[in-house]
Amino acid sequence: MSRTMLIAGNWKMNGLQAALTELEAIAVAAREGPDLLICPPATLVSVAATKGVAIGGQTCHAAVSGAHTGEVSAEMLADAGAKAVILGHSERRADQGESDADVNARTLAVWKAEMIAIVCVGESEAQRDAGDALGVVMEQIRHSIPSSATGADTVVAYEPIWAIGTGRTPSVEDIADMHEAIRAQLVDQFGAEGADIRILYGGSLKPENAAEILAIENVDGGLVGGASLKAADFLAIANAAHDVGSQLD
Ligand code: PGA
Repeated sequence: MSRTMLIAGNWKMNGLQAALTELEAIAVAAREGPDLLICPPATLVSVAATKGVAIGGQTCHAAVSGAHTGEVSAEMLADAGAKAVILGHSERRADQGESDADVNARTLAVWKAEMIAIVCVGESEAQRDAGDALGVVMEQIRHSIPSSATGADTVVAYEPIWAIGTGRTPSVEDIADMHEAIRAQLVDQFGAEGADIRILYGGSLKPENAAEILAIENVDGGLVGGASLKAADFLAIANAAHDVGSQLD
């Protein structure tokens, strides 16, 4: 397997300057093992990028610059030191009405700025209960990711909305089924490159369940919200990824 595990932390709208001390311990761990990425709020990106940990943004505008008050462009995040940008998180799809087409356009902007796009997809609880989870997620992937995606510039994060911040997670079988379907969809859309695109699981990933979830086939890492705010929790998840990785060696 050529895909390196990626553990990405999404701080969401949390984090003042004082929170940057959490990055010191993560910087030490980042020198070996899985790829580690922290996505703090935009206000902290440039200073966080000096701390020895790869840093990402949580969203960006599709345009390079212009009359878009309050927005941040991909080029600006790259200029501040970001290496990746989370796009289409379900909170943005819900709060800001971001569509698959918006995510697609932003992905192109992220690639143009030579960063990695982490494209989030995931079904609601009602959609899962109705038996539509696979269909909804495949549709999101089909429309949110532009046609030339590669394993080097794109990561998919599968995050069932009902698992985010709730402490609930899908069963191992449901995660395995979804990730297998996403892999097939990526290969269908992008050919051989689709086999190299990492698929992260996100939604109540924590130290207690990380080893079990990260060992599932086609789970190439995690997108971690709440448990990324404390270095100890985040590193426990990173260590689980490391252990899984070395078991596969
Ligand atoms: P959570 O959030 O780990 O707090 O559930 C995950 C996410 O929204 O990326």
